[in-house]
Amino acid sequence: MDVTKKAIGMLDSGVGGLTVAREVMKTMPAEKIIYFGDTLHLPYGPKPKKDVKKYVYRIIDYFKHRNVKTIILACNTATSMLLKEARKDVNMPLFGTIDGVAARVKSVSENNKVGIIGTKGTINSNAYQEALKNEVTDFEIYAKACPRFVELAEKGDFEGDKVEKIVREYLLPIKQKGIDTLILGCTHYPYLMPVIKKVMGENVTLVNPAETMALRAKNIMAVRGMISGKHEEPISFKEHKFYVSDLNKVSIEFLNKGTNFLNLPNLDFEEQNIFENKNKNV
Ligand code: DGL
Repeated sequence: MDVTKKAIGMLDSGVGGLTVAREVMKTMPAEKIIYFGDTLHLPYGPKPKKDVKKYVYRIIDYFKHRNVKTIILACNTATSMLLKEARKDVNMPLFGTIDGVAARVKSVSENNKVGIIGTKGTINSNAYQEALKNEVTDFEIYAKACPRFVELAEKGDFEGDKVEKIVREYLLPIKQKGIDTLILGCTHYPYLMPVIKKVMGENVTLVNPAETMALRAKNIMAVRGMISGKHEEPISFKEHKFYVSDLNKVSIEFLNKGTNFLNLPNLDFEEQNIFENKNKNV
């Protein structure tokens, strides 16, 4: 099959990666996406790397079986823990949310005080901190895990007093450090963007790594002749496929609010049983 016509595989632990899918659809509207949310094993953030690796590699195998042309790790936890080794292990181009983000932060930050928020796994992996330091050695970096944000996003809890209180608790300590740039290092966090913006104030620029990654992926794919021909003509939304490993874990509240937030038509998730242990949830 002509490589340009093949789909792009995108994976996350749940609905977070849809914020990345939205950027990819904007940047490469002619590309067909096969999305996989591993709701059976959500959240990835607190899990040890060996477990996340097992799940992510299984999804990568599934994508290979679906004959995709490239895979995007639309999950910062998976990217931070695995992108480097997966690039060696998997025989096809892989992109991750961290790609290009340090250069973007360099161009945005004026005082070089940068905040990075993500899951425990992402923050503890040090991947973002290292990428930033490689770009600008004197970046002052304030990293913080915000585990509750994932559960809020999955439940469609994007705003309101309760959400604002939680966001304040996590973010005020790093705001007080005087950062002027904050990286949303988890693909679930853009759902909370309006509240995060309100809490951080006008003087802090929020960086969504998915924007840079989508542009980079497009350029690299174009150079490699992998991109779908007529880029001006968006494909029909129905051609994208959205799978999850456990349909019961997709909340009605998310379905009601998330698609609106993303400005996408109604999402039709289908359960795809690719893990042998579905009923044991290991
Ligand atoms: N959305 C994912 C990320 O970007 C994972 C969240 C989770 O499963 O803990 O890290």
